[in-house]
Amino acid sequence: MFEKLRYKWIKLNEDQSYKLKVLEMSKPTFVRVEDHRICVVRLQEGWFGVNNVCPHAGAALHAGYCNKNGIVACPVHGYKFNVKTGISVDGNNYHVKTFKIDNREDGFYVGIKKF
Ligand code: FES
Repeated sequence: MFEKLRYKWIKLNEDQSYKLKVLEMSKPTFVRVEDHRICVVRLQEGWFGVNNVCPHAGAALHAGYCNKNGIVACPVHGYKFNVKTGISVDGNNYHVKTFKIDNREDGFYVGIKKF
């Protein structure tokens, strides 16, 4: 309950909501909310979002691939990030910002952390 208050929630438009609703498991896609470009992956536990811009050299993460455990690999140099935490799993210090993705009765919402 209180966890949700830490986020600013923005409803996705119908097209983007539908894209997430029918998204294949572990297939990265892309949504845009305000000035945020977000790579979204659907896993067994739900939908997860991270900043779509790879912190290494700026490639679009949604163009990479993701395994069933939520490890998304950048399409350019292959650095891998956990979409649940945003942390690189390659042993370096790279990380990407995470976003909450909430599937509600009236559509999908993106939660942007306020603090
Ligand atoms: S641009 Fe993503 S790993 Fe290099």
